[in-house]
Amino acid sequence: MTLANPAAVVLAAGKGTRMKSGRHKVLHRLAGKSMLWHVLTALRQAGIPPERTTIVIGDSAAEVRAEAETQFQGAPYAFALQEPQLGTGHAALQAQPHVPADADAIVVAYGDTPLLQAGTITSLLDQVAQSTAPVTLVTGILDDPQDLGRIVRSPDGAVHEIVEFRDATPEQRAIREVNSGFCAFRPAWLWEQLPNVTPARNGELYLTALTGLAVRSGAGAGTLVLENVLETIGVNTREQLADAEATLRRRITRTLMTTGVAIQDPATTYIDATVVVGPDTTIHANTHLRGDTQVGADCEIGPNAIVTSSAIGDRCRVFASVLDGATLEEDVTVGPFAHLRPGARCGRGVEVGTGSEIKASSLGAGSRMHHFGYLGDTTVGQNVNVGAGAITCNYDGKRKHATRIGDGAFIGSGSLLIAPVEVGAAALTGAGAVVTRDVAPGAKVAGVPARPIGTHGADSTGSGASDSSGNSGSGQ
Ligand code: UD1
Ligand code: CA
Repeated sequence: MTLANPAAVVLAAGKGTRMKSGRHKVLHRLAGKSMLWHVLTALRQAGIPPERTTIVIGDSAAEVRAEAETQFQGAPYAFALQEPQLGTGHAALQAQPHVPADADAIVVAYGDTPLLQAGTITSLLDQVAQSTAPVTLVTGILDDPQDLGRIVRSPDGAVHEIVEFRDATPEQRAIREVNSGFCAFRPAWLWEQLPNVTPARNGELYLTALTGLAVRSGAGAGTLVLENVLETIGVNTREQLADAEATLRRRITRTLMTTGVAIQDPATTYIDATVVVGPDTTIHANTHLRGDTQVGADCEIGPNAIVTSSAIGDRCRVFASVLDGATLEEDVTVGPFAHLRPGARCGRGVEVGTGSEIKASSLGAGSRMHHFGYLGDTTVGQNVNVGAGAITCNYDGKRKHATRIGDGAFIGSGSLLIAPVEVGAAALTGAGAVVTRDVAPGAKVAGVPARPIGTHGADSTGSGASDSSGNSGSGQ
């Protein structure tokens, strides 16, 4: 039997004082996304959609709510306000009015469990479907159970109760089976019993107290004992956050390797959960792939590449460079030490070399910018050669202006193109030219300010224009 209508409640109202942070605990990030994002994503992947998920918020309620809404484009999550925060049981009670009445199971996840996986949620729901127990706990055996809640079992092995570490006797603290916090309930029973929970010694209403109630009523509690229980255990401290990130990072690199990506050194490879990489791409050491980055097949990325929210086509090479919001078509090479900023677009076969910075500019297929220089707000045609040290002066102190460079043009070393300005197709600017006026197609200009000194070529293929010898001084 499977369940037809599961619903979820995510507890995220508690402040999380052990993080020692001004920011709410579930908003702390690992692999590029907040803990809350990871939990909500696992629930969606397990088939529990936003409209069947209630998030309990309290401390920093506006920020936590905004995170869920913006990260999932206004998905219809329900929000229950818990004010004040009187414990996990009290938090679940606040969710009651928002949980769909047709729910046949309610999974309760804590917002601080970023390693929770969809497969574990599915296993829990399968367990609930096969059991008559009104509560099913996810537990596991740990060598070092630290301050987690302990699962106390009767001599016959049945669950007797959960004891919080702070309330446990020395004998109970010696128990190595721990409560992960992740659990599921039969809805009618949950809503009936939650008001019967009595406060713990610290005054809080514990969700975990329901287990004792279920046992004492004779209904009993089921367990799903996980091999890898650490995945469902919450992050309370900065140290646990770093440990969780390391685990998540290993999971991401392992998954990529199973799909044919070569990762030279997983220990120094930092790939966000949202990144896509094609097969036969090699990621070299000390590479960061962040945000919504997509990398094609047969690429070489790194070493020392930092790529954020960029699209990289097949067979590209990015060596020791920083890309942010950039787009590379196929067969593009970048680096070393290039900086491609938002809106940088490189057409097929473009080569961007040492110390080049490109912002809000496109280079057409086959164009080259091999040495240090700057392109801003510039449209470069195909097969253009941008010489060493050439710069588009796009900012006059008040406004940004555009530069256009036609197909096959040749921009000599150290040329300064004072925008707004256009260099025509197959035109040439001499070394050190300060170009203040448009250059006609095929013309040759030089000097300060640049003046026509003849013709360069009329072809637009760039064959003549790529000649780096002679008087052009391209620095090729
Ligand atoms: C909880 C469990 C413990 C388990 C451990 C696993 C309880 C009482 N204890 O302890 O058995 O071993 O998780 O990680 O459940 N929250 C609210 N409102 C509140 C209090 C908490 O929404 O009033 C939320 C928190 O934001 C957090 C989650 O519930 O996301 C868990 O609370 P936390 O204080 O982290 O519980 P633990 O001490 O870790
Ligand atoms: Ca916790």
